[in-house]
Amino acid sequence: MTDSFKPLRKAVFPVAGLGTRLLPATKTMPKEMLTVIDRPLIQYAVDEAREAGIEQLVFVTGRGKSSLVDYFDVSFELESTMRKKGKSLEALELSRADFGELISVRQQQPLGLGHAVWCARHVVGDEPFAVLLPDDLMAGTPGALAQMVEAYNRVGGNIVCAEEVAREKTGSYGIVTPGATNGNLTEVRGMVEKPAPDVAPSRLGVIGRYILQPEVMSVLDQQEPGAGGEIQLTDAMAKLIGQQPFHAVKVDAVRHDCGDKTGYVLATLALALERDDLAPTVREFLASR
Ligand code: UTP
Repeated sequence: MTDSFKPLRKAVFPVAGLGTRLLPATKTMPKEMLTVIDRPLIQYAVDEAREAGIEQLVFVTGRGKSSLVDYFDVSFELESTMRKKGKSLEALELSRADFGELISVRQQQPLGLGHAVWCARHVVGDEPFAVLLPDDLMAGTPGALAQMVEAYNRVGGNIVCAEEVAREKTGSYGIVTPGATNGNLTEVRGMVEKPAPDVAPSRLGVIGRYILQPEVMSVLDQQEPGAGGEIQLTDAMAKLIGQQPFHAVKVDAVRHDCGDKTGYVLATLALALERDDLAPTVREFLASR
């Protein structure tokens, strides 16, 4: 097995951002703890990673983000009280990490997504790893990362999840210069962070799921700040193009950008409409409006 096909066991969750678009909600609560129906965003991302075969979860946290790690702990008092009252513990079981499954590292200053990923370098070591941004809630079966792993097992190397974005929105995404397309896979020839619509090389925008080779960490060692003065993951990934296989994959899933108010509301509605216990009431309310 060549290095670029090593199995994927680790996933990095950068959760140290400030979440300024959702203030004041995110003043004291991490954005990734915001709840869609009955689970925080981080739970959806962790479920998706576990389904894709990930064995080690690496959270890159910052100040005020400890509740994300606590959430996956065993809540002894709560469990013992519920047991005494004869209540089911089923809902709590999902949110428990196994011994050693979850590791957290700190990003002491929010210097950008590339910097957050780099903070996980010692835990990642020399293995390929996934990156999941929990504020992109991906609704799909199988999950988005599982679909990416399926692509990874075919082509190896580096894979970003991508979707066509509106021309006027290119300035909010990393945009791909596309090469040959084969089914849902497009060869990546170049990548640029947040280009203005008139200079964007395409409308193929990178969204919050990645499978990366460990060499990106050595590039990040040297990475200077880019767009917005932040250390950009896109700039570091772009330097691997030509040295390692690099593809963008379109997955069969709906992305909800929960880092944005509208996206967050729509995610709640969309997921509620999928649930038998909630859909009739929600549908009735929407129809009445
Ligand atoms: P965003 O671009 O959504 O930034 O980050 P943000 O700070 O969280 O939110 P706004 O724009 O101020 O509202 C995308 C992902 O990268 C993480 C965030 O936590 C989020 O999961 N991130 C970003 C970090 O972990 N560290 C950083 O320095 C920047």
